[in-house]
Amino acid sequence: MTRILGIETSCDETAAAVVEDGRFVVSSVVSSQVDLHARYGGVVPEIASRAHVELITEVVAQALVEAGAELRDLDAVAACHGPGLAGALLVGVSAAKALALAADLPYVGVNHLEAHLYAAWLEEPDLEPPLAVLIVSGGHTMTVVMEGHGQYRVAGQTVDDAAGEAFDKVARHLGLGYPGGPAIDQLARAGDAGAIRFPRAMPGAADFSFAGLKTAVVNHLRHDPDAVIADVAASFQEAVVDQLVEKLVRAADEAGAPVLALGGGVAANSRLRARVAEVAAETGRRAFLPPRSLCTDNGAMIAATAWWRLAADGPTSLHQGADPNLRLV
Ligand code: KG4
Ligand code: ZN
Repeated sequence: MTRILGIETSCDETAAAVVEDGRFVVSSVVSSQVDLHARYGGVVPEIASRAHVELITEVVAQALVEAGAELRDLDAVAACHGPGLAGALLVGVSAAKALALAADLPYVGVNHLEAHLYAAWLEEPDLEPPLAVLIVSGGHTMTVVMEGHGQYRVAGQTVDDAAGEAFDKVARHLGLGYPGGPAIDQLARAGDAGAIRFPRAMPGAADFSFAGLKTAVVNHLRHDPDAVIADVAASFQEAVVDQLVEKLVRAADEAGAPVLALGGGVAANSRLRARVAEVAAETGRRAFLPPRSLCTDNGAMIAATAWWRLAADGPTSLHQGADPNLRLV
C-alpha cells in the first residue's frame, strides 16, 4: 500500500488529501476562498496567493490528522505545479517540496489537467482506458481521449471562453453573483429550458465556442428586460450542455472509446451529469461522473495522479518549479 499526500493551490481552493494506491481517498480537506473573491466578481490572483500562504499549513495538518497519518507514514508528497496562477501554484509547490525534504520523501509535481482526468479513478478504481473525458472548468474546456495511462490526445478545445467562464459571466449579467455555475444550476431547475433558443456554436466541429452564446444572452436581456431569469438561466444552461455533450460523444465516437468521464468544476452541473448519463445509456457506453467534491479542485485528484506518475516516471526533481502555462500534451 502506498500513501501519497496531494496539495492543490492552482486557483482559489487551498486543498490537501491523502490517497492510497491512486484510488482510495483516506482524507480530503478543501478550503474555498470563494467568499474572499466574491466581492470582486472573480478570482484576484494576489489575494489568492496570500490566502494560500495563510491556509496551507492548517489544511495540510488537517488532511494528515483526518488520515490518522504522520509525515513519516507517507510514501510521497505531491503538488499541482501547473497550469494555474503563478503565485498560487508556488505556495503549494514550495510547501510540498519543503515537506518532502524534511521527511526525506520523494516529491511529485502534478499537471492540474491530468489530475482532473484521474478523478475518475477515485470514483471507479477498476477503470481501464481508452476513455473519452470532458474537462470543463473555469479556465479550461476540452475533450481528451485517454488511450492509456500517460497517453493523451486533445480531441477538441474552446476557441474563446471556457464553459465555467461563460457560466460566471452570464450569472453576473443575471445578477446572481460569483461563482455563477452553481447559482445558474440552482435557478435553472425552476425555469423552462425550451423558453429561448440560444445558439449552439460550431455544430459538427471538434472545438467549442461560448463567446457568441454569452453575447446572445446579454442581447436577449437588453431586448427583453422583463425576461423570466429562471427561463434565461435554464435556456442558457441547455445550450452549453448541448454543445458539451455533442463534442464529448464526437470524441468518443472518433476514438472508439466505450467510457465517458467528466472532470472540472462544471462537471458538478446537474443538467450536464444527467445528459451525459443519458447519452451513455443511449450509445451503449459507461459513464463515470465523479462526485461533485472531486469535480471541483481538490487535493485527492493530485495525490491520485501522483501515484501513477511516480510509478511511471519516478520523483520530480526539487529543482523543477511551477509552470503557469503547463499543457496536458
Ligand atoms: O475546476 P474548478 O473548481 O476550478 C478551475 O480549475 O477553474 O472550476 C470552477 C468553475 C467555475 O467557473 C464555476 O462557476 C463552475 O466551475 N461550476 C459550475 C458548477 N459548479 C462549479 N458550473 C456549472 N454548474 C455547476 N453546478
Ligand atoms: Zn480545476
